[in-house]
Amino acid sequence: MTAPKKLFVKTYGCQMNVYDSERMAEALGGQGYVTTDRADDADMILLNTCHIREKAAEKVYSELGRFKGLKEEKPDLKIGVAGCVAQAEGAEIMRRQPLVDLVVGPQSYHRLPELEAKARSGEKALDTDFPEEDKFEKLKGKRKAQRGPTAFLTVQEGCDKFCAFCVVPYTRGAEVSRPADRILDEARDLVERGVREITLLGQNVNAYHGAGDGGDWSLARLIWALDKIDGLERIRFTTSHPNDMGDDLIAAHGECSKLMPYLHLPVQAGSDKILKRMNRSHTAESYLRLIERIRAARPDILMSGDFIVGFPEETEEDFQATMALIEEVNYGYAYSFKYSTRPGTPAAERAQVPEDEKDDRLQRLQALITRQQRACQDGMVGREVGVLFEKPGRFAGQMVGKSDYLHAVHVTAPDVAVGEIHRVRIVDSGANSLAGEVIAPV
Ligand code: SAH
Ligand code: SF4
Ligand code: F3S
Repeated sequence: MTAPKKLFVKTYGCQMNVYDSERMAEALGGQGYVTTDRADDADMILLNTCHIREKAAEKVYSELGRFKGLKEEKPDLKIGVAGCVAQAEGAEIMRRQPLVDLVVGPQSYHRLPELEAKARSGEKALDTDFPEEDKFEKLKGKRKAQRGPTAFLTVQEGCDKFCAFCVVPYTRGAEVSRPADRILDEARDLVERGVREITLLGQNVNAYHGAGDGGDWSLARLIWALDKIDGLERIRFTTSHPNDMGDDLIAAHGECSKLMPYLHLPVQAGSDKILKRMNRSHTAESYLRLIERIRAARPDILMSGDFIVGFPEETEEDFQATMALIEEVNYGYAYSFKYSTRPGTPAAERAQVPEDEKDDRLQRLQALITRQQRACQDGMVGREVGVLFEKPGRFAGQMVGKSDYLHAVHVTAPDVAVGEIHRVRIVDSGANSLAGEVIAPV
């Protein structure tokens, strides 16, 4: 028997890339590959890349440069670039970096076996098509043993919203929802492999409208169908757009006990002028009213968001409107970014805010967010929460997991096993996690 070939995959970007990286490893499993976590041990290196901000794309070129020595030592080593940078500038990568043997976009990676064979034969292999066929169906049945109690499941891909700053509609293509029965099959399969929490993924996951019994299903309908799967205990979804928060989804947050009380609902900015220029098609006010309705359905829900500072033409006054919105919402978690010009997007052509101004705004915004996050985490002390335990902690007898609200929680409880969900009383709030005591099994 020949020794298996080894595949090293490095993943950048969003959770959808994490999901895709697993699928790519499975696609190559049939070619005799097993995964390794060491690049210097690999027969094939795949970088699954992100194009969302300039820095993310630059990282790919610097990472590729670092493989030069490895390739000289091991001429049979194949190097591939996948994901959103591959989609956006695959041909240019091949030109600019001769080390690259293979380029594959996010919509065509089910073709990796053929691409790998082509690369092995010494040719350059590039595929950045948007094929008709369903890549997930092509890869069906290849899922390997599940390693932990939580899993991602992509239900929707692509985006038709064209926010003026964003590359996703170009790199991932048009919005497509997977049929409901295929998602439910994949979920059942995951649960059989020990998964207890599934996070449904999509660039606009709440715009989900997949074919199902009786017509198009909404995300809420899908969640209710998942709710009926025995053994599946927790459901989450990300990322949502404010314009796609349907009444049924808001209601599900109040009524579906398996749907966790955490909602990532990016607003990007608090100034209506900037929101309009971003092509967001919601206002600060409509977003705030939406959050009121969500909190009416589920008062304890933890809200998280994304913010961009220094979008073209953002003034100090516009920025202050973002700060005021943050004050009003009171986030439990948030991600914030300096606006980064992306070639080919409308905002890239506009007058830019100076870099030092962006730095200053980002610092002020992050200070506010950090205060809110801290207060939210500290406010958990004394409360009882459910915790799904994911792995042993750093100390003997310690187990760590995530609370219903997605906070990291550690307990000292030698009899608790990975995959168990327990009621936990939170007793302390540390730098990045909460300490708790197990009360009783759920
Ligand atoms: N589909 C999601 C998020 C996609 S990208 C949504 O609509 O909210 C994740 C986040 O990256 C965005 O929410 C935005 O805050 C940030 N982002 C996207 N493009 C960016 C750019 N050009 N510069 C800075 N941040 C950006
Ligand atoms: Fe990008 Fe806007 Fe689509 Fe989100 S909704 S993926 S930010 S274009
Ligand atoms: Fe990045 Fe592509 Fe995700 S650009 S954020 S990896 S969809």
